[in-house]
Amino acid sequence: MAQAEVLPEVTKFLEAPKMLIGGKPTEATRGQTFETIDPSTGKSFAEVPRGGVEDIDAAVAAAREAFEDRRWTSLRPGKRTEILYKLGELIKRNMAELSQLEALDAGKPVSLASGEMWVAGDVFRYYAGWPTKFFGETNPSDDNSFIFTLREPVGVCGGIIPWNFPMVMASWKVAPALACGNTIVLKPAEQTPLTALRLAELALEAGVPEGVFNVVTGLGPEAGQALAQHPDVDKIAFTGSTEVGRKILHASEGNLKRVSLELGGKSPNIVFADANLKRATKTSMYGVFSNSGQVCTAGTRILVEKPIHDEFLNSLVEATQSMKLGPPLEEDTGMGPVVSQEQFDRVTGYIEIGKKEGAEVVTGGGPAEGFDGGYYVQPTVFAGVRNDMQIAQEEIFGPVAAVIEVDDVDAAITTANDTMYGLAAAVWTSDISKALRVARGLKAGTVWVNTYGPTDASVSFGGYKQSGFGRELGVHSIETYTQTKSVWVNLK
Ligand code: NAI
Ligand code: MG
Repeated sequence: MAQAEVLPEVTKFLEAPKMLIGGKPTEATRGQTFETIDPSTGKSFAEVPRGGVEDIDAAVAAAREAFEDRRWTSLRPGKRTEILYKLGELIKRNMAELSQLEALDAGKPVSLASGEMWVAGDVFRYYAGWPTKFFGETNPSDDNSFIFTLREPVGVCGGIIPWNFPMVMASWKVAPALACGNTIVLKPAEQTPLTALRLAELALEAGVPEGVFNVVTGLGPEAGQALAQHPDVDKIAFTGSTEVGRKILHASEGNLKRVSLELGGKSPNIVFADANLKRATKTSMYGVFSNSGQVCTAGTRILVEKPIHDEFLNSLVEATQSMKLGPPLEEDTGMGPVVSQEQFDRVTGYIEIGKKEGAEVVTGGGPAEGFDGGYYVQPTVFAGVRNDMQIAQEEIFGPVAAVIEVDDVDAAITTANDTMYGLAAAVWTSDISKALRVARGLKAGTVWVNTYGPTDASVSFGGYKQSGFGRELGVHSIETYTQTKSVWVNLK
């Protein structure tokens, strides 16, 4: 299949990407830049400003000014609706450009990247509906007083996001923050800084006033840390590793900013003997290998009931081997490389650990040959995995599945819950009562039945246990991006 041409607008954008602070394209104060790498070649393809403490200060000051002068907050709610909806539409209109940028930056197949752009646009269109639909309250009182509750924005928000779904993660932070009348500073991941910069330009084009949505590109321990600990940031929303989540929590102590954390996972995908095996196999395969396994909800522990274990494993291997590895811009690519040298080392390191622990590689098992310089890893299935092995307990964040045999429903639930994480889980069965009993027994923020992986702008998302706290999407984000103020009026 032919390699898609790089679009002229992409080439142009890559010449000199700039941060957006107070509505102005901005270089880093110290003039520093960093290179962003194409994971399919291992080569740098753009230089991006390396924002530091000073740049975070400037962005927070711009966001503060925009918040305090109420240039956004005081707009008629229907006006905010119009602007956010338009931003959703602009994402759709610029989908080809944005998808290529993401495919190049993250190494993901362009087909997957376009799906991501669709979701991001949808999240903006969904939250565009909210400014006119959330209310305060009038409280019960005697005739001598009048008491009401206002629902107000939190203020200046900070968003720190990962590289696996850069645009979707940006939309999950920015859309609800803006819908509620806040201003925001977004710090995209250093592996994938580009689409956030383009998104901020599109926001200006849609009519979001200057200073309301700022983007600072830079490294985690520099720009990220500065944002998390900034005394003038009122709320921080983070998605990323559990390790950095802890740092964010510490950094937030100074001014006790509100924090929400969406962290890692080691999600169980339970396949019972009475499942529709064909569908379970195909969807489980995508559930673990989609986006090269770099998905926080990836179904990495596949728990299979004994009677169908061998049959399931065989068809999983067959489905896995039919997936086409290739460069992101080729349209028939099913799986691209992993995002960075660091992830490549980590993932292949875990594959070696799995072998040493005595798990059996049934397909894959190491780097993929024939891709000079790119970070390609073979989709790998381990069988004979015990749940206490490292490859069953630790988040690998790459194309590695651990298949674990379980005896019955009780063993499935116990094994599924035996992890420090609790982001997502799935159950495959044709017995609805069993499905519902198991769903109730699972300690996870999302449970899918006879499917794997869907999310929707209206459906809450977040973790149990060390997968984080706070919920995003739907009405939950409206609650976390607003605060209430009770007003007492004496009528006597
Ligand atoms: P990370 O957690 O370091 O990066 C996520 C974001 O946090 C990035 O924007 C980064 O710049 C920022 N960051 C890093 N250190 C920071 C600090 N001290 N203060 C403030 N911000 C900081 O994730 P990384 O290193 O890219 O990947 C490591 C592992 O984390 C992966 O192998 C995977 O297991 C996990 N991960 C999980 C994700 C999820 O969605 N659950 C997403 C990305 C990574
Ligand atoms: Mg890191």
